[in-house]
Amino acid sequence: MGQFNDKVALVTGAAGNLGQALCAALVSEGARIAMLDISSEGLVKARSALPDGAEIELFPTDLLASKDVERTISAVKGRFGRIDILANVAGGFAMGPPLHETDDATWDRMLDLNLRSVFHCCRAVVPVMLEQGQGSIVNVSARAALAAKGHMGPYCAAKAGVVALTEALAQEHKQGGIRVNAILPGTVDTPENRAAMPDQDHSRWVPPAALADVMVFLASDAARCVTGAAVPVYGRS
Ligand SMILES: NC(=O)c1ccc[n+]([C@@H]2O[C@H](COP(=O)([O-])OP(=O)(O)OC[C@H]3O[C@@H](n4cnc5c(N)ncnc54)[C@H](OP(=O)(O)O)[C@@H]3O)[C@@H](O)[C@H]2O)c1
Repeated sequence: MGQFNDKVALVTGAAGNLGQALCAALVSEGARIAMLDISSEGLVKARSALPDGAEIELFPTDLLASKDVERTISAVKGRFGRIDILANVAGGFAMGPPLHETDDATWDRMLDLNLRSVFHCCRAVVPVMLEQGQGSIVNVSARAALAAKGHMGPYCAAKAGVVALTEALAQEHKQGGIRVNAILPGTVDTPENRAAMPDQDHSRWVPPAALADVMVFLASDAARCVTGAAVPVYGRS
């Protein structure tokens, strides 16, 4: 039994590092979960790490294809009857050349993966939440949204866009029972980051489970008066 008994959570990027940690945290609080990611195999593998008895459904979906997203949201509604929590976790990072040497494809990729994906999901899920009269959306931005660095301009712009979108949506639905918040992770302790930065002090980074804890708080009733926030979660990095 947990604080999300009878709640339905939709998690994007559910096969990734943070997505898996968040699904585990939500399941431990009793939520029923719709796991969304681009790869069926990735979803099946991620599902196998979660408790057998948990009520979980897998939804392979390309977040950049709006029709695909709309189909999935209808399917989630059909399967579970409601969507109480939307966690927009999917995103991705790539270093690039300086901005004046950045091509359109690189710009589009970073903006699409990190910002359009959130737009597509929110646009499809908000009507479901409005019908219910309640819901909570938690977006994943990044510290880079507030403190941009060179050679990652498109990523920083996209993550700053996620903060702006979070604030705009929060304003739109302040009276309608839907809360919208974001987290700003610092460097996350993932296998990919360890491989890319072997010489750094990994104990300073943020474990995915610690980010999941903050997302659970934002999604929960304990944060019932919090909306439009972008919460830094930097660990000691
Ligand atoms: N890792 C960090 O240090 C860090 C720091 C700050 C913020 N963040 C943010 O935190 C979030 C999670 O990071 P993470 O490390 O858990 O990333 P991750 O392990 O790469 O997980 C992201 C997941 O999203 C999936 N995905 C990619 N494109 C998709 C699409 N078009 N449709 C549906 N799913 C798609 C990926 O699938 P594939 O792997 O098959 O592409 C992957 O399973 C991201 O938004 C990231 O930007 C991460």
